[in-house]
Amino acid sequence: VTINEERRSPGAPILHFRHDSDPAINADPFRGWIDLLHRYDAFGSDQGGAPVWVVLRYDDICRVMRDTTTFSRRYTDAYRNPVGDPLIPIHLDPPEHGKYRRLINPLLSPPVAKGLEPKIRHRCIELVDSFVENGRVEVLHDFAFRFAPSVFLGLMGLPQEQAEEFLGLVQTMLDETDATDPGAVRRIQARQETNDFFAGVIADRRAVPKEDYVSYLVHSEVDGAPIEMETLQSMCLLLFEAGQHTVASTLGSAFYYLASHPEHRRDLVEHPEIVPSAVEEILRYFPIDTSIRYVAEETELAGCPMKPGDRVVLPLTAANRDESQFPDADAFDLRRDPNRHIGFGVGPHRCAGSHLARVELAIALEEWHRRIPEYEVEPGFEPRYIIGTTVFRLDALPLVWGAS
Ligand code: HEM
Repeated sequence: VTINEERRSPGAPILHFRHDSDPAINADPFRGWIDLLHRYDAFGSDQGGAPVWVVLRYDDICRVMRDTTTFSRRYTDAYRNPVGDPLIPIHLDPPEHGKYRRLINPLLSPPVAKGLEPKIRHRCIELVDSFVENGRVEVLHDFAFRFAPSVFLGLMGLPQEQAEEFLGLVQTMLDETDATDPGAVRRIQARQETNDFFAGVIADRRAVPKEDYVSYLVHSEVDGAPIEMETLQSMCLLLFEAGQHTVASTLGSAFYYLASHPEHRRDLVEHPEIVPSAVEEILRYFPIDTSIRYVAEETELAGCPMKPGDRVVLPLTAANRDESQFPDADAFDLRRDPNRHIGFGVGPHRCAGSHLARVELAIALEEWHRRIPEYEVEPGFEPRYIIGTTVFRLDALPLVWGAS
């Protein structure tokens, strides 16, 4: 089913467009989405299994994310069939969603995130010290994707020795698309492996509880009953993906920008007190998520005539550059205030890990710049982005420093 003539609307043109294989978005997802925002408020795509609407403005995206009656978060994908079962709680709508979200919140609350600071700082320093003398590092593989996962594995009580293997699974599940993995063969396989792995961990923690998040979930109750194995696996899988991929991807874009804009980098080095607002500006400027919703009730939004079963694509990158919300939206301003970005989303599904993510990002900026204040992108580097279905990131980022 594509959008037929009768559904075409003068307010919203229909484009031959898929964000996960669009050449402009693949070349540079930030530029690609912002160029679309400058041209349209919203448009339709004729590339889905059902009609797909892409909504670009800040207010419209917030409306979709908040209105869970009209726009369901049920497990769905804009262009292909779902891979595996829904993830919990993200693919549930209220009120069911809240039952599981309530369990996760205390694990990732502001005091918990604050309490983890010394450990996170220690891990960050250890990593930066491991390459500071080399004068070069590939930021994604040797820093960002070692830093964020190691924090997360510690919380979940998972073996650090398997970090590289876990990362492979997460990257397959999130980085691959129909273009790179036709028929979702590798994604399904990675999901299966991760689920099997968690089945073992869950059984172990049921028998012998430890002080970790898996034990906590295994011994939690919903509606007065223990949580079933499949639901536990699904909750663990969501945390596994979100806890390892997100902060690392954000750090990749942040360091690329800071390496290419010495005036901002020096400002940050000279004024470490602005790190908290720098983190917010990084989250505004480099959001990683392109979220999807399922139209549950007929509605009209930004000129798009939406019917039940249609899909809605919500690029947070576009929302965060909307001039009507952010004056001089394309300027990177380390002191931007106010900064009501929606890099973490908005509404009931707003990121459960935002407090932890902020702590990790702030510590990474502080400890890196304390040790490596001057650096640049390795000459000849050409950025290559990996565009997944819901998230995107730089593939690699070689940085160099210290050569005189
Ligand atoms: C810079 C880092 C991060 C960013 C930009 C980010 C972004 C987001 C966004 C945009 C959503 C909402 C998606 C939607 O409504 O469709 C979300 C949800 C979520 N995030 Fe994050 N996230 C980050 C880090 C983390 C971390 C570190 C964790 C866990 C350890 C985490 C766990 C979650 C969970 C569990 C949800 C689902 C919440 C729900 O459905 O109620 N996130 N995140």
